[in-house]
Amino acid sequence: MRTTVLIVAAGSGSRLQAGVPKALVTLGDGNTMLEHCLDSVVAARDAGVVELNAIAVVVPGDPDAAASLEAVCRAFAARSAVPVQTVPGGAERADSVRAGLAAVRGLAGTAGGPFGRHALLVHDAARPFVPPAVFGAVVAALESGTVAVVPGVEVVDTIKSVARAGAEPGADDGAAPEEVTGTLQRTQLRAVQTPQGFDLTSLEAAHRRAEEDAGLTGGAAALTDDAMAMEAAGHRVGVVAGDPLGFKITTQLDLILANALLASTTLEHH
Ligand code: CTP
Ligand code: MG
Repeated sequence: MRTTVLIVAAGSGSRLQAGVPKALVTLGDGNTMLEHCLDSVVAARDAGVVELNAIAVVVPGDPDAAASLEAVCRAFAARSAVPVQTVPGGAERADSVRAGLAAVRGLAGTAGGPFGRHALLVHDAARPFVPPAVFGAVVAALESGTVAVVPGVEVVDTIKSVARAGAEPGADDGAAPEEVTGTLQRTQLRAVQTPQGFDLTSLEAAHRRAEEDAGLTGGAAALTDDAMAMEAAGHRVGVVAGDPLGFKITTQLDLILANALLASTTLEHH
C-alpha cells in the first residue's frame, strides 16, 4: 500500500534546552535527530515493510532553523531518491500536523490502495531509532483495513490522575500539594509512540473536526497525538507492538540514552 510519511520537526525542544530546535540537535555520531529519523524510514523501506511514496517534513517557522532542516532534507532526498517536501509548522504539534496534511494531500496523488485508501504515517522527528518492525506492524494494520493504528508499549510506572483542592485541573498554583484523584489499572495502559498510521482522508476529516470544535479534544495544545482526533471522531484505533527503541528524546536524560545506544551495539541488532 503506497504510504506517505509526515514527519513533524517544527517543535522548539524547550524541555531539551539545546539552544536549537530539537530536530537539529546532533547525536553522538554527528548526525542530527532528523537525519536519524529519515534514515529509519528508509531502513523500513529497504526492509520491504513500507512501500514509500514520499515524505513531508514540517519545519519551524524560524528562517535559520528552517533553512538548516531544509538542507538536511535536500541531502537526504539526493542520497535516498525519496521525494521530500518541507512545509512550515505551527505553534502546537497538532497545528504542525495540520500544516503537513495539506502538503501530504499533494504528494499522495491519486494512487489508491486497498479500500481506495492512501496510507499516511505521522511520525515525530524526535524518535530517531524506530525499528523497521514497528513501521511494518503499523502498515500491516492499515493494509488489513484499520483506519487508525498506534504502536504502544506497556507502562512501567503506576499512573495516577491528580488535582489541587479548589484548583482547575492542570492549574499550577505552586503552593498546595496535588492530591490523587484516581489510579488507572496499569495492565490496561499503553504508552503510545509514533509512527501512527491512518487512512489519509479519515485523518484529514478528524483533524478538521477537532479544529472546528475545540470542545472535542480540548484544543490544539491538548491534542498530544493524532489518534486522539480519530478517537474524538468515533473511529476505532488499533494498537500494535511498539518498541523501547521508539522512545522520544524529550530531556537531557533521553539524549544521554540515545548517545549511549549509538556507542553500543544495541542498534545494530535491529
Ligand atoms: N512538534 C511540531 N510542532 C510543534 C510542536 C512539536 O512539529 N509546534 C513536533 C516536534 O518537533 C517533535 C514532535 O512534535 O518531533 C513531538 O513533540 P515534542 O517532543 O513535544 O517536541 P517539542 O515540542 O519540540 O519539545 P518541547 O515540548 O520540550 O518544547
Ligand atoms: Mg512539545
